[in-house]
Amino acid sequence: MYRHYLQWHITHECNLHCIHCYQEDCHCVMVYPEMVGTLDKYEEYIRAKGFEGQINLTGGEPLLHPDFFRIASEIRRRGIRLGILTNGTMIDAKEARAIAELKPVFVQVSLDGGEKVHESIRGTGSFPKALYGIDRLKEQGVKVLVSFTVMQQNCREMKAVAAVCARHHVDKLWWDRVVTDDPAQYLTTEQFQDVSRTAAKLAKRYPFISNSRALEWIPEGGCGYECSAGKRLLILLANGDMMACRRLPFVIGNIREVSQLQTFLEENEIMKKLAAPSFPQDCVSCKYFYKCAGGARCVTYAQTGRLDLKDVNCYL
Ligand SMILES: C[S@@+](CC[C@H](N)C(=O)[O-])C[C@H]1O[C@@H](n2cnc3c(N)ncnc32)[C@H](O)[C@@H]1O
Ligand code: SF4
Ligand code: SF4
Repeated sequence: MYRHYLQWHITHECNLHCIHCYQEDCHCVMVYPEMVGTLDKYEEYIRAKGFEGQINLTGGEPLLHPDFFRIASEIRRRGIRLGILTNGTMIDAKEARAIAELKPVFVQVSLDGGEKVHESIRGTGSFPKALYGIDRLKEQGVKVLVSFTVMQQNCREMKAVAAVCARHHVDKLWWDRVVTDDPAQYLTTEQFQDVSRTAAKLAKRYPFISNSRALEWIPEGGCGYECSAGKRLLILLANGDMMACRRLPFVIGNIREVSQLQTFLEENEIMKKLAAPSFPQDCVSCKYFYKCAGGARCVTYAQTGRLDLKDVNCYL
């Protein structure tokens, strides 16, 4: 069955202030009955399309939302899959037990380096707290993914992050590039190539490493990335704004003003444009063309303002 993902940023509040974070202040957040109404619209959409739905609750820090457990239980009551994306720093034994009861498909915790580098990005004290959270979740049998966002500041930390994940029995480590127009943060192509090679080498020792995002598969020769923007992903911000992808700066509408999500999404010009195959000119003679279609449009768009160029970090 085709799986559709709703990435729901239920709050934009956070207890951390990471240097790379794309979250902005957001007012007009929904009260609980509105959240349930939103869920009704999403459920109607996936049922009508015959999709299996998955809602990934995120933020800001989703565990700061006063109705986090209420809305998460409601999602599960409707038989919709649940994922949770958190910084992990607020998870103690009690919280981990409550999360385990929700039976999420995974909880994703962010680690952005070994202790020193992670804390230079995420703030003092954030590293042991995130690991404490991971350990409590693992004790409860929850599947834990680690998300490692790679930027200039931490591009030599792959080995350190992988070793920490191994020590803490993390189920999967996936990494992706920061999306920013700040040259002090984004990776040069050489840095990206270097991280990709390191990750490919480490994956032989640590099979939990996933190198499946745009262009990360090149050192291994395989290929398995497809940008889901416009297709099987919808982003919902705390004020009801919808986006095709959190990493592309296009708001497509507000769910509070939409009565039927299916019609809205099928008729939306931005969704249609992003769903259409992209064929950057510079890629046409590449042997990976049909599988890669130009790499990460979000990373490239942030740096160039264009959707029709090949990945800014492609070294082929
Ligand atoms: C927005 S956070 C929300 C969940 C939680 N607060 C956390 O830090 O994991 C989700 C993920 O987005 C990543 N992220 C934030 N800003 C980003 C950016 N500019 N480019 C790429 N990823 C980013 C974070 O590093 C984190 O892994
Ligand atoms: S913890 Fe997550 S939401 Fe909070 S500032 Fe960091 S990346 Fe952003
Ligand atoms: S040349 Fe284009 S299609 Fe080939 S790997 Fe690079 S970005 Fe992908």
